[in-house]
Amino acid sequence: MHQADTLDEAKRAAEAGADIVVAQGTEGGGHVGVMATLPLARLVIRALPNIPVIVAGGIADGAGIAGALVLGADGVLLGTRFLATDEAPFPDGYKRAIVESDGHNTILSQIPDVAAGQVWPGAYARVLRNAFIEEWIGREGELRRNLNEVRQSLQAARAAGDAKRGSLLMGQDAGLIDSIEPAGALVERLAAETEAILRERGALAVGQPVIGVAESHLDLERWHWR
Ligand SMILES: Cc1cc2nc3c(=O)[nH]c(=O)nc-3n(C[C@H](O)[C@H](O)[C@H](O)COP(=O)(O)O)c2cc1C
Repeated sequence: MHQADTLDEAKRAAEAGADIVVAQGTEGGGHVGVMATLPLARLVIRALPNIPVIVAGGIADGAGIAGALVLGADGVLLGTRFLATDEAPFPDGYKRAIVESDGHNTILSQIPDVAAGQVWPGAYARVLRNAFIEEWIGREGELRRNLNEVRQSLQAARAAGDAKRGSLLMGQDAGLIDSIEPAGALVERLAAETEAILRERGALAVGQPVIGVAESHLDLERWHWR
């Protein structure tokens, strides 16, 4: 399974023999590109009709999953949503920062990689725009020169669960996440929400020609978590 953030990369992954391609939009947490999920998903789904395409980036609830499936996705990949689960190996303070975020306080930045001692020119990670990020924006060279000190400070922040001073990768969908839940219960809730929305929308289509167009794509058996 290869995750792609451009159409060209998705095509090359398919040509190279990937079994599944993930179309990952910029809304997502962690390393992402600059294309938004909505157009990228459609571009990749249209271009690769013969292999499963999974959609990622900005999806955190049943409506988002249903939306991706209606776009033609064979499944979805959720990252940020699962950070706010009991099982995620992150400090509670980080999980609470996701719950508290309204989704507008993330930024694409090289700072998380520079601070981790990684050199990935041109790669950006979506991260919480907190005091740590604010301190180093535009000062990446200085950050490199102070790496030991900064890494110690990051480790201390992590140990203390200090969300202001840590490097917290998260997507814009943090704004949709309202609670820290057990992962298993979360999966069941999301599946039930998604199915309810798809059924409701399918029912709406009866006798309504505009939505009737969408109805021809609604095939709950095909979408049923294969
Ligand atoms: C903390 C964190 C770490 C991640 N690490 C990786 C990684 O190592 N490799 C990768 O392909 N994607 C990574 N991602 C991106 C996810 O695979 C996924 O594309 C993204 O989380 C989807 O968007 P969402 O966060 O809005 O659900 C990471 C995401 C997060 C939040």
